[in-house]
Amino acid sequence: MTHFAARRARLLAQMTPGAVAIVPTAPEVARNSDSDYPYRHDSYFYYLSGFTEPDSVLVLAAASAGAAAQSILFCRPKNPEREIWDGIRHGPDGARAAFGFDAAFPIEELDTEMTRLLSNAPAAYYALGHSSTLDLQMKTWLQNVRRLSRSGISAPVVAHDLLAMLDEMRVIKDEAEQALMQRAATISAQAHLRAIRASRPGMYEYEIEAELLHEFRRNGAQAPAYTPIVAAGANACILHYNSNNAQSRNGDLILIDAGCELDSYAADITRTYPVNGRFSAPQKTLYELVLAAQEAALAVIRPGAIYSDMHDAAVRVLAQGMLDLGLLDAKKYSSVDDVIAERAHQQFYMHGTGHWLGLDVHDAGAYRDLQAEGKPSRALQAGMVVTVEPGIYVRPAPGVPERYWHIGIRIEDDVLVTASGHTVLSNAAPKTVADIERAMGGGA
Ligand code: GLY
Ligand code: MN
Ligand code: MN
Repeated sequence: MTHFAARRARLLAQMTPGAVAIVPTAPEVARNSDSDYPYRHDSYFYYLSGFTEPDSVLVLAAASAGAAAQSILFCRPKNPEREIWDGIRHGPDGARAAFGFDAAFPIEELDTEMTRLLSNAPAAYYALGHSSTLDLQMKTWLQNVRRLSRSGISAPVVAHDLLAMLDEMRVIKDEAEQALMQRAATISAQAHLRAIRASRPGMYEYEIEAELLHEFRRNGAQAPAYTPIVAAGANACILHYNSNNAQSRNGDLILIDAGCELDSYAADITRTYPVNGRFSAPQKTLYELVLAAQEAALAVIRPGAIYSDMHDAAVRVLAQGMLDLGLLDAKKYSSVDDVIAERAHQQFYMHGTGHWLGLDVHDAGAYRDLQAEGKPSRALQAGMVVTVEPGIYVRPAPGVPERYWHIGIRIEDDVLVTASGHTVLSNAAPKTVADIERAMGGGA
């Protein structure tokens, strides 16, 4: 059984007997004129199917007293003329054989088949309220089934939010996912190393970005997992900077936040390094503070630790550093607890310390235990993958020492929770001051 079929079986086993789940893929999106954005399938659909063609819908029918469970694909039919222009299509028969579905139909038969499949089904599972297209299709299909009521056929009387169930499955990565994510992280780490090595003062941010993209593609990654950030100097203090068109200057730090997507799985890595190969004293001071914050966050990661522990650990280190370095006024804040209670650290550290990572760069999955009283931050479990990405961003402000102005630093790694602790998947990108300076040929 493939990993995709195993996931379908796990979902089917959680469903009400005889109920039906409907999972469409993503639509194609026009960019302009005759040109579309590069096509990217829907992550939930892909998770269950492995199928990457547009115009596809997966339907899962749970086993009932008289019938075995079924996985049914609707997809584009073969079309020799369109295939000359757009590339080959599996077609229903080809897809059924290649991907192990129990049945497959041309997408044009979806409405007719859904009337049949939803007839007498007790419940439907789909992404409630996410897509007006699917909401409208559901309405049509349910109305079609209800029209058959005089012949004793009933329509589903319950709708379940399918995404909530799939989110819980997706948050724990299976073996195949873990292997892919390790590879995506390794390619991305190599890309950071390549960009770091290639950097020279005066280079434009896009020239450095090109090094990343080159390394992604030459290793078979299909695309960046998100728009890369290559930010020189003060641009690093703009959290979502991605115009990547400025020229670096001698003395700048470069912040790169970039990861590839490999076979639908994302990496998400940030490194910050001096474009001339040597950290200045203030740069090094702040860099080592962020690195210490990241080490503190990494140190808590193991099964049973609470998700928010990572952020709390990083914030404590950063807040103490902000007091020690005079970024925050030690006369105004008597302790780290005081800084945190007043949220004063948010002047320089205003984002969270991580997120789930997987098919999506900000991956599916709840961050809180939604069943527990008060919905506290959830416990980590083996198979989860998180990013750990503390940073510091110093904008000019009264009272802030000038030597730190315009310095923006983030260090981000991808971390798999294992039975005994954790594995950093993105270790191949240099991270300590010594490793970075050595990689750039400037250090000891
Ligand atoms: N690259 C997106 C993030 O770090 O969350
Ligand atoms: Mn991230
Ligand atoms: Mn990132």
